[in-house]
This record gives sequence, C-alpha cells and structure tokens, in this order.
Amino acid sequence: MKIVPLTHDYTLTNFDCGDSDLNEFLMEDAKHFLSKRIANTFILEDDGRIAAYFCLLNDKISRIEITNSRWKKIKDSFPEGKQFRSYPSIKIGRFAVSVDYRGQNVGSWLLDILKERLYMMQSQSAFRFITVDAYLSAIPFYQKNGFVELTQKDEGEYTRLMYFDMMEME
Ligand SMILES: CC(C)(COP(=O)(O)OP(=O)(O)OC[C@H]1O[C@@H](n2cnc3c(N)ncnc32)[C@H](O)[C@@H]1OP(=O)(O)O)[C@@H](O)C(=O)NCCC(=O)NCCS
Repeated sequence: MKIVPLTHDYTLTNFDCGDSDLNEFLMEDAKHFLSKRIANTFILEDDGRIAAYFCLLNDKISRIEITNSRWKKIKDSFPEGKQFRSYPSIKIGRFAVSVDYRGQNVGSWLLDILKERLYMMQSQSAFRFITVDAYLSAIPFYQKNGFVELTQKDEGEYTRLMYFDMMEME
C-alpha cells in the first residue's frame, strides 16, 4: 500500500466507504478543493485500488468554540508563558476507508502514519493539535486512536469535534 497526494491528473477510480457524502466528495469535490487551496487530499492505494482517503487543512482550536472545563484542560497543556485565545491545529477534513478494507485496522494504521508524517513536518509550520469533526458512528474509532471530544457544545449534532495532542508523540 502507498499514500499518494491527489493531483489534477490523478485518475479517480471507484470508491465506496458506505457514506454517499464521503464518496461524492472524493469523486466530485476533492480536485476543486485542491485548486482552491481549501484542502489537500491523500489517497491510500492498494494495487491500483483506492483503499482509503483523507483530507488535510489548517485549523485552530479557539476559546469561543469550547466549554470552560475543556478550555482549562487545553490551557493546562501550556503551563508557562503567555496564554492565547486559540492554538494552531491541523484538521482531518475527511477520512474514509473503503468497505472492502473495513475493520482490518487500515483506518488506525493510516491515522498512525498520518500522525508520524505530521510530526516530521513540525519544523515547517507549527501546530499543536489534530482536529476532526467525527461522525457519531466513528467516535469509538477516533477514541481508540487517541482522540478526545473537545466540547459538549456540539452534543446532539451529527458530528462531534475531537482532537489529538501532538505532544503525545514525544
Ligand atoms: C470509521 C472508519 C474510518 C474506520 O476505519 P477502519 O479501517 O474500519 O477502522 P479500524 O479497523 O482501524 O478500527 C476499527 C475500530 O474502529 C471502530 N469503528 C470502526 N468503524 C466503526 C463504525 N462504523 N461504527 C462503530 N465503530 C467503528 C471500532 O471501535 C473498531 O474497533 P475494534 O476493532 O476494537 O472493534 C471506517 O469505518 C469508515 O470509513 N467509515 C465510513 C466513513 C466514516 O465514518 N468516516 C469518518 C468520518 S469522520
């Protein structure tokens, strides 16, 4: 398996992760997002087939988005020096594994590779957290991979904001 960045001349083949929005995004929107500099997409290829894909974009965790108790926890991660109203992050914009590869640890493995790649990039632009708007059904998957819910403010919505602290890589 190999991870390749989506480019304009990449030929997209069939992909089905069981979620039509995520399927359509890859086929119809991902190249547009690339050209507009909204999100970069990466494809996990297995012998010419698309096994999974994910998107990345810049983000921040802001004081106004989250509850006091969680903000205190975030602030406690920065015990010394000036406190800020937001902290730089990278967002996983989309994350999907093909139904053919589901439940075989492919998603967890891909998240591990992603964290390692982002960790190696730390000398470029600084960021502290990885964020994701997790589908409710995918929350156990992200929890299993070290992500925690960021706020109670989005309870009842169809996605929950979760984050991973890059300091856990040290
Ligand atoms: C969520 C998803 C990325 C997980 O990928 P995967 O390769 O199947 O996951 P892994 O095999 O690495 O891990 C499976 C674990 O995740 C959890 N999990 C995965 N899919 C789940 C689902 N649909 N519902 C509930 N839990 C799920 C389980 O806790 C499972 O743990 P277990 O192996 O101990 O039982 C994949 O199911 C998927 O693409 N789903 C559809 C799209 C989606 O929800 N994307 C996330 C958008 S935020």
